[in-house]
Amino acid sequence: MNPVRIAVFPVAGLGTRCLPATKAIPKEMLPVVDKPLIQYAAEEVIAAGITTLVFITGRSKRAIEDHFDLCPELESELAAKNKTDVLKQLRDITPKGINFVYIRQPAPLGLGHAVLCAEPVVGKEPFAVILPDDLIDAQTPVTKQLLDVAAANGGSVLGVEDVAPQDTNKYGIVDTGGSSLGTARVLDMVEKPHPDKAPSTLAVVGRYVLSGDIFDHLRDLGKGAGGEIQLTDGITSMIKNQGRVFSHRFEGKRYDCGSKAGLFEATVDLGRKYHGL
Ligand code: G1P
Repeated sequence: MNPVRIAVFPVAGLGTRCLPATKAIPKEMLPVVDKPLIQYAAEEVIAAGITTLVFITGRSKRAIEDHFDLCPELESELAAKNKTDVLKQLRDITPKGINFVYIRQPAPLGLGHAVLCAEPVVGKEPFAVILPDDLIDAQTPVTKQLLDVAAANGGSVLGVEDVAPQDTNKYGIVDTGGSSLGTARVLDMVEKPHPDKAPSTLAVVGRYVLSGDIFDHLRDLGKGAGGEIQLTDGITSMIKNQGRVFSHRFEGKRYDCGSKAGLFEATVDLGRKYHGL
């Protein structure tokens, strides 16, 4: 049985890298071909067997709630016009048996703080964290890949990939003691280190399976890199307190859809691969 039931989506961020497109709509609602980013993320976790989706939202994020809500007027109109394909696509957005929970992050205090906001729903259980900007096209959904590693090893698992040495200052970078194995024990982690100070070029790219203990390490954290409460610092504290944390080089291609180039590339690649465009 899959012991991980819950996925948390921190979606309160402002999306300044995609302005002006994100002035009035959440960045998670930007489409790649025919679906918004948030739907790719939701489909990924549902395919991994997760049944409760917790969105940490903020001001101006109402469109996300609307997207996962039923829309009876639209459905009756499509049914009346016999548009069965599109009706099915619409109904598939909210499969039966899946719970959608929304929690407001009162202020944008950082990713660590956003994850901490999920504690009242998550409790002590292990859970997944997905950053929807990172769209990952994979044969086996990346969340499923990480859950399998967590089931085999116990503890928390971070999805990682190698980045260019000059880009370490954009990511949480793990120290695996030089291990080049697909799955490695994480000895330390640093948020956005300058390339000269980075312990490796292995970056966490928006996929985490975390033990419920993480909340104990996030609760009293001060501000870290960029003046924000960082998830990376909570994970580091967990490691320093004997927590088992692994990095896993997942199979799949990742697109940084929080950037114009990534969004463009994802649109072209997925359009060609899945839609014959
Ligand atoms: C966040 C995390 C960082 C991680 C990155 C993945 O940074 O803080 O550790 O590597 O997401 O995309 P952000 O991109 O929100 O600045």
